[in-house]
Amino acid sequence: MAVYNVSLIGFGGVNRALVSLIRNYNDEWMKKLGFRLNIVGVSDLHLGSLISPNGVDAEELLKIKMEKGGLASLDGGCPDPRSMEVIRQAPADIIVEATFTDPKTAEPAISYCRTAFEAGRSVVTTNKGPVALAARELIKLAQQKNVGFEYEGAVMSGTPVIRLAKKSMAGADITGFQGILNGTSNYVVGRMEMGLSFNEAVAEAQEKGFAEANPAADVEGLDIRLKVVILANEILGANLKPDDVSCSGILGLTPADLEDAVSHGERWKLIGSAEKDEDGFVSAQVKASRLPSSHPLASISGATNAVTFSTELLGDVTVTGPGAGRIETAYALLSDIITLHHDRCSFTEKGDAE
Ligand code: HSE
Repeated sequence: MAVYNVSLIGFGGVNRALVSLIRNYNDEWMKKLGFRLNIVGVSDLHLGSLISPNGVDAEELLKIKMEKGGLASLDGGCPDPRSMEVIRQAPADIIVEATFTDPKTAEPAISYCRTAFEAGRSVVTTNKGPVALAARELIKLAQQKNVGFEYEGAVMSGTPVIRLAKKSMAGADITGFQGILNGTSNYVVGRMEMGLSFNEAVAEAQEKGFAEANPAADVEGLDIRLKVVILANEILGANLKPDDVSCSGILGLTPADLEDAVSHGERWKLIGSAEKDEDGFVSAQVKASRLPSSHPLASISGATNAVTFSTELLGDVTVTGPGAGRIETAYALLSDIITLHHDRCSFTEKGDAE
């Protein structure tokens, strides 16, 4: 049985959802998973910070209302010194990083990860940026400091894809993948098929909470591009940067295009894909594609995400599930913490056996 001290960096929807899970399930986790979580630090650009070495009550934490202001006027992407202090000073085993991060620079998430590793703390994060732009550097730093770094939520929130493909399918010889990796764009195309205008469909996706406040990254394919980089680098052994992935979104799709496809039993989908050739060269792209009804991704509707892995030994393997949502993304953080716990247990058992 273990108690892990955690510091929450960023206290928006995802980390609040994690605190709700802690409030509701901590005792059950102790029985079923062998650990419980103790919150010793919290920081947020709007909220400020607190450090409580003995632990904060989850119920009390959820009563704290977010006040706009404080350091919110800092330039986007600039690390908050109060978060740095919490990462360094609060006695956490694990830093739970879920901040608002600039997708172009991946800051402040990269700085928070580096600072955590330097302080000897493991990191779990839901941010795409640090994984897409700096995974190699961060993994190396974590290894040097003998701490963990997990980021399952970076691609399809709580739906397992990264560890599934890397670990459970490690021997299947994955040669490529095709994915619907952005709920907003898939939802918008589906609603346009039903006759809504592009703007009406985007407004609905925003109301439902899965489109970004500025949905450009969703509909232009930029969000998918980061996820393709992550999957290609993690699973196909590539070393891609976002600029290596050709990218177009759904802006060029007209109602007539969609209608014509549907009338032929086909569907337009915004697909992120990568493929490894016989020499090991990986090419990747994001583009709208007209899929036949027999394609495993053709029937994925609404904001659901899905990825089909092409493998030598299993043929095609498709994973479908939510790609966004507060609880769903908080679940990804829990799955990361479970992985850190298993790693620690197997390390301890190995040590005992030697
Ligand atoms: N805006 C994203 C989507 C959220 O629509 O899928 C998850 O990255």
